[in-house]
Amino acid sequence: MRQLIDTLAKERQLSREQYRELLQTRDACVYAYAEEKARETARARFGNKIFIRGLIEFSNICKNDCYYCGLRRSNTACNRYRLTEEEILDCCKQGYALGFRTFVLQGGEDGGYSDDRICLLVSKIKKSYPDCAVTLSIGERSREVYQRFYDAGADRYLLRHETADEEHYAKLHPAELNLAERKRCLYDLKEIGFQVGSGFLVGSPYQTIEHLCSDLLFLQTLRPQMIGIGPFIPHEDTPFKSFPAGDINLTLYLVSLLRLAHPDALIPATTAVGSLVENGREQAILHGANVVMPNLSPSKNRGDYSLYNNKLSDGAEAAESRAILEARLSAIGYCTVTDRGDYKVY
Ligand code: 5AD
Repeated sequence: MRQLIDTLAKERQLSREQYRELLQTRDACVYAYAEEKARETARARFGNKIFIRGLIEFSNICKNDCYYCGLRRSNTACNRYRLTEEEILDCCKQGYALGFRTFVLQGGEDGGYSDDRICLLVSKIKKSYPDCAVTLSIGERSREVYQRFYDAGADRYLLRHETADEEHYAKLHPAELNLAERKRCLYDLKEIGFQVGSGFLVGSPYQTIEHLCSDLLFLQTLRPQMIGIGPFIPHEDTPFKSFPAGDINLTLYLVSLLRLAHPDALIPATTAVGSLVENGREQAILHGANVVMPNLSPSKNRGDYSLYNNKLSDGAEAAESRAILEARLSAIGYCTVTDRGDYKVY
């Protein structure tokens, strides 16, 4: 098993059979070996530096109905909001003063924010903060629209594939959404020139080891610049409310395997990992993650961006508490940097 991990570190890829073997084991020694190798790999490239991104959750209105997500359109218990351009620019202003040089605009697929409005917003942010990167995370669009976002100045785009297995995809999403279209979006984004982020849920309902192998193989083919994964966490107002949360140790093991397969990738210690266990963020970093994305949204709206239950948005998760974050990272020997933190090959 250690040999397989060494092969992954060296070749940066494995076959389905090899991944299956690595995922079938529950051996703590194997997990620990992957962690150690992944940490070394990240250290060799990024040192003890962690990139930070200011996350602005600008709308929780969504036309989609994904069964796992608390923002799904059928959830009538969700208190909907949409920030104005002024509010978003204000978040950027505060973020800039705190040292953020990447702004991530994330929202549901909200028709109320037209493509024109997004383009205008992106160009305004880029004009006010020419030294900053703008990342969009607003779902599936046509290639033409993605091109317009890019031409307006957007640098990066996050769109998790969620699961790379067709049948599993159909169990997590209503019929109008499908994996082929998701992949089409990701390849279009990449061809246009965006730095692209993808990723998947760990322990989502009906997930098998074979599905996880498909996720790792898909990422090996797509080769995105950013990879975000997190445990599935049930939300009480969704059809998946009674399913158990994903396993934290499996999630961390997968972070390590992803680091080995994608040594240069930007891999966040995601909010879901931090929400599931007390020191999840730190654990993810020790398993090879090199990015954190604190919340820059207005405090009054944070509780309403409820993707899953008990989602963290305070303490080290809050952008204004950069000092808390810094202290927690320094306790494990890491520090944040004021830097765009673009993808580069070392
Ligand atoms: N648990 C964990 N992550 C979730 N997301 C959506 N719903 C949940 C949930 N219940 C994740 C999806 C999406 C990202 C913004 O949040 O993977 O891509």
